[in-house]
Amino acid sequence: MNAIWTAFFTIAAGFLFAEPLAAAPISFHKEISPILRRSCNGCHHPGKLKGNLDLTTYDAFRKGGKHGPAFKPGAPKESLVIEEISGEEPSMPADGAPLSASEVTLFERWIKEGAKNDTPAGFASPTAPALYPSAPAIPALAFSPDGSLLAVAAHHEIILHKADGSAIAARLSGDAARIESFAFSPDGKYLAAVGGSPSLFGEVQILEMPSGKPRKSFKFGRDSLFGVNWSPDQQRLIFGSAERAVRVIAAADGKELFKFENHLDWSFGAAFTTNGQRFVSGGRDRALKLVDLGKKQFLEDANRPNEPITCLVRHPSLDQIAYGGAQGSVFLYKMTEHADRTAAEKDANRIRSFDRVPVTATAIAFNADGSLLAVGSATGEGRIFRTENGARVATLKEIEGPLFALAFHPKLPQIAAGGFDGKLRLFNTTNGALITTFSPVPLKTPGKFATGPKETKK
Ligand code: HEC
Repeated sequence: MNAIWTAFFTIAAGFLFAEPLAAAPISFHKEISPILRRSCNGCHHPGKLKGNLDLTTYDAFRKGGKHGPAFKPGAPKESLVIEEISGEEPSMPADGAPLSASEVTLFERWIKEGAKNDTPAGFASPTAPALYPSAPAIPALAFSPDGSLLAVAAHHEIILHKADGSAIAARLSGDAARIESFAFSPDGKYLAAVGGSPSLFGEVQILEMPSGKPRKSFKFGRDSLFGVNWSPDQQRLIFGSAERAVRVIAAADGKELFKFENHLDWSFGAAFTTNGQRFVSGGRDRALKLVDLGKKQFLEDANRPNEPITCLVRHPSLDQIAYGGAQGSVFLYKMTEHADRTAAEKDANRIRSFDRVPVTATAIAFNADGSLLAVGSATGEGRIFRTENGARVATLKEIEGPLFALAFHPKLPQIAAGGFDGKLRLFNTTNGALITTFSPVPLKTPGKFATGPKETKK
């Protein structure tokens, strides 16, 4: 056989065998979803719902947009999505390269085969496990202002505990895989929780307390939100994000009132001044920014930190902001313009510095009257300082791996701490003594906590 015939038979065989191979059912997870992510999600995600359509999950895709379900299982010809992506000049994607003919065929075949969802369990699906195989890290904590409840962030849920850790009062599951920050409204009637599912959406949840219902959920952007705080009049919320933006929204309906995009990197949080007319935000871009909300205008950098700002908190009654940095520095600043800024490079707004915490500052909190400031670190150690003079009052030990969250009890001399090891601990704030340790989540095997990289032995 000469070369040409060999080639011919090889190609013919290729066609013969291609058919049975290609007949394997089309996988939503492996074949359809990657196309949606590449060509469609940019305009169809929870933060940007063109045509009122979210294409980031199977369920949202199926639910469809303005004109109802985007596809009809078994009937590609009656499916809106096929109409949109095929034809001479396909209308979707509204911008950019159309899908190739073979990609359109994938959609048609997947719908014809029943449009099944084969997304693996746990893949961005909003479910909290009934019993956890092991305790997840604790990224956020907050006591209700009356001291009756302790909110703890877990996987796809918020768990409300009785403040002494004696029982779970409620489990409230939501879309966000992770909650990064909590804030109770000053009157205690609402709990705001911000977080998200990285690369999918950022979410703000507002829950009525103490029932946790009804819940409002507002989605912003495509990445996690951080560092939430209420305005003094409880009408607005402010928070930062991994996409840099700091947003002010209306708590009633989630309307974005102001989007501040002046940070060059993640913004880990922001806080209103005591009159609610200004805010200060901090970010990984080594910037602490002062912004006027009336004029919707950036005023100036409140100082010149020389390390990324990883956490910040406003004094409960004064226009002062305390922050921790990526190299462990802890400072207290006035939330005002630089007096004398040009004169002598003077850091006029700095009120005080505190002892550096080990490695990186990871969490920061004031007690109810602002007399104490607690700072957590990447080594797990927490430190409590007296605000007025910086003296260290107590050291919190025992936490294995980074400490992620700290919250003072509003009435008792107690502080809750949580971190990588998944154990919730209550310490005495006067001497740092451990009061109790418990699992904030119900465990399959009681006592099964994360032990970090050590556990990787085969
Ligand atoms: C550049 C932005 C953009 C991209 C990218 C995009 N869309 Fe759209 N899409 C829109 C807009 C805008 C509308 C609303 C059009 C209208 O209502 O007139 C829309 C509407 C739709 C609708 C109709 C929803 C309804 O119920 O009315 C479908 C289905 C859809 N898009 C599918 C897709 C798919 C599939 C892709 C990827 C292949 C895609 N879109 C990519 C902007 C976009």
